[in-house]
Amino acid sequence: MEPLRAALVDYLARTRGVLGSVDRAVICCGASHALALVVDALVAGGRRRIAMEDPCLPRHREILAGRGVEIVPVPVDAEGLRVDALVAADPDALLVTPTHQYPMGVALSPPRRAALAAWARERDRVVVEDDYDAEFRHEHQPFGALQPLAPDHVVYLGTLSKTLAPGLRLAWLVLPERLVGPVIAAKRAGGAENSVLDQLAFAELIRSMRYDRHLRRQRAAFRRRRDRFVAAIEAASPASAVTRISTGLHFVVGVPDEAAVLAAAGALGLKLHGLGPCWHGAPRSQGSSSGSAGPPRPPSTAPSARWWPHWYRYKPANWTGTAPGSAANLVATGKVCPITFDRGRTCRLGVCE
Ligand SMILES: Cc1ncc(COP(=O)(O)O)c(C=O)c1O
Repeated sequence: MEPLRAALVDYLARTRGVLGSVDRAVICCGASHALALVVDALVAGGRRRIAMEDPCLPRHREILAGRGVEIVPVPVDAEGLRVDALVAADPDALLVTPTHQYPMGVALSPPRRAALAAWARERDRVVVEDDYDAEFRHEHQPFGALQPLAPDHVVYLGTLSKTLAPGLRLAWLVLPERLVGPVIAAKRAGGAENSVLDQLAFAELIRSMRYDRHLRRQRAAFRRRRDRFVAAIEAASPASAVTRISTGLHFVVGVPDEAAVLAAAGALGLKLHGLGPCWHGAPRSQGSSSGSAGPPRPPSTAPSARWWPHWYRYKPANWTGTAPGSAANLVATGKVCPITFDRGRTCRLGVCE
C-alpha cells in the first residue's frame, strides 16, 4: 500500500541511508517471501548463478535451491564475506547480510563494502542486502546500509520479524528500477498479499515516531539481556566463548561438541540451533546459536531457567513453543510474539502504550 511504502522510504532514508522512492518499494510477507520474489525475478532475467555466504541461513538456501538456481558458496571470515573469492567466482547475483552476518555475527568491513559495491557496479551484478536486524546495533552507531553505495545494483531487504514480530509476516524491498516490474510480476503470479490493516497500522506507527521509540526501548532491553547472557555463560563455562555480539538478537557460542550441547539443551527444554546446517558443505566450526528476542521486559534479573515460570505466566495466547529461558529464547523462538504480550496494558503492534 502506498501509505506504508511512502512511510518506509522516508524511514529507511533517515535511519539507514537507503536511496529509494515509493515506486521502487514493494511490501512482502516476510523476508523469505521477499527473497523468493527477487530470485524469481533474477531467474526470469537469466541470472541463475547466485552466491550465498558460507555459512548462511538454511531457510534462505532452501528458497534458492527450490528455484533451481546454481548456488555459489562464498566463505566468510572475520571481516565478513570474502569479496576476493566472490569476484573470482563472479556469479550473476549475491545474497549477503553485510551489517550482521548470519549466523557468524561479523560486520562486513568498510573496504569490503566498497569492493562489493564496485564489483556490482562494474560487472553489472545484483546484490541482495538482507538487513534483517540492523536496528539492534549495541556497541556503536550502525553502519549505514550497503544499498546507497550502488542503488542501481543493490536490492535492499528489511523485515519486521526482529523488531516487532515474525508472525506479522511483513517485510519490504527497495529495488533497482529495472527489477521493479519483474518483482511485481512475480508477486502477482504468487498470489500472496499482505493484510491492509497491518500495513496501515505500521505506516501510522512509523509516521507517529512510535516505532522509533519502541526500537529505542527494545535496544536498551536487548542490550541488558545480552550482557546478562554473556555474564552467565562466562560464569558457567569460561571456555565457551560468546562471539560477535555487537549487533542483533542472537549469539554464537563456541563449543567443543555441538551435537552433545544441543542434546543436553534439548533435555532441559531449551532449543538451540547448531551451526552445522548453516554450512554449505561439511561443518567447519562447532557452535550453537541462541537468541535474546522475546517478550519485552522478562521479569528476571538473570538469563536462567528462572525465567520460565514467569514466561508461562505472561506467555502470549498464541504461543506454541517451549519455554524461552535464557538460551531458549532462540533463533527458533523468534516465533515469540511480543505483539500479544500484555500485562494489563494495551499492546498495539508490539508497542506497549
Ligand atoms: C538472516 C535472516 N534474514 C531474515 C530473517 C527474517 O526472516 P522473515 O522476515 O522471513 O521472518 C531472519 C530471521 O530469523 C534471518 O535470520
